[in-house]
Amino acid sequence: MPQLAYVDGRISLLRDAHVHVEDRGLQFADAVYEVCAVLNGRLLDWPAHIARLRRNLAALFIDLALSDAALALQARRLIAANGQAEALLYIQVSRGAARRDHGFPASPRPSLIMTVRRFDFGQRIAQQARGIAIITLPDLRWRRVDMKTTGLLANVLAKQDARAAGAFEAWLVGEDGIVHEGGSTNAWIVKDGAIITHPLSASILPGIARASLIALARSAQIVVVERPFSLDEALAADEALLTSTTAPLLPVVRIDGHAIGGGTPGPVAARLAPLVWGEITRQTGWVPPAA
Ligand code: PDD
Repeated sequence: MPQLAYVDGRISLLRDAHVHVEDRGLQFADAVYEVCAVLNGRLLDWPAHIARLRRNLAALFIDLALSDAALALQARRLIAANGQAEALLYIQVSRGAARRDHGFPASPRPSLIMTVRRFDFGQRIAQQARGIAIITLPDLRWRRVDMKTTGLLANVLAKQDARAAGAFEAWLVGEDGIVHEGGSTNAWIVKDGAIITHPLSASILPGIARASLIALARSAQIVVVERPFSLDEALAADEALLTSTTAPLLPVVRIDGHAIGGGTPGPVAARLAPLVWGEITRQTGWVPPAA
């Protein structure tokens, strides 16, 4: 089935879909986005993604004239038309096309684009069993990364460095030695049975998978601590983890070449994994393949 895209109310073949050359998303990264998981044809954590999108739009004074219900309808229409049961839905809202000028246009007409692409969530089960390696890099991003904007150049460069090093992710570390998050994932360590992650602040993205893991862990009486942790602490941790829409839970077993927790996934990750996949099954009916 050919891939389809949605642009401002129209669904067309992805290869024919286009935006204006002077779209402010293209020229200034004056745009926000969401990535949502589609499993068994159903959207995971949709209300949380929409709430975050609305918060980001409001923060940037982008007025998308489309109700939540209409947005959900269009997203579901695109997912159905694409015919992919396991996929990622990408939603982007920019301030729209206007004569290039840094200040906002007088009458902005925001543009909405959506794409759906096949994604293999089953691959995460094998990675979960083995654990993954990460590297660390200085966090070179601007100071409002809590907003999910398309200004991702520092993330792009960090992810490319990780790829070149044969690592899954790069953890971004502040000048004070504090681990903020990964290039596209939230970061966690485990110490004495408690799971620890950076508190919500301007220096991390409030991940949907992060919020979900906090709720699931607490409901299973696993202690969750939202506090900053340093790279030194991470290197001495019992276990390390990362979470995101595309990687709901992965054990980190190597940081900059140092083995964490003996270099294999630990018991807390093993307790959390069924909770995470169980919640995905509960919401979508999708059942992970056996490891
Ligand atoms: N990335 N931190 C950053 C910098 C991210 O880009 C992401 C998501 C996360 C995890 O957020 P969530 O749990 O809501 O996916 C944390 C998406 C998937 C992306 O850009 O592809």
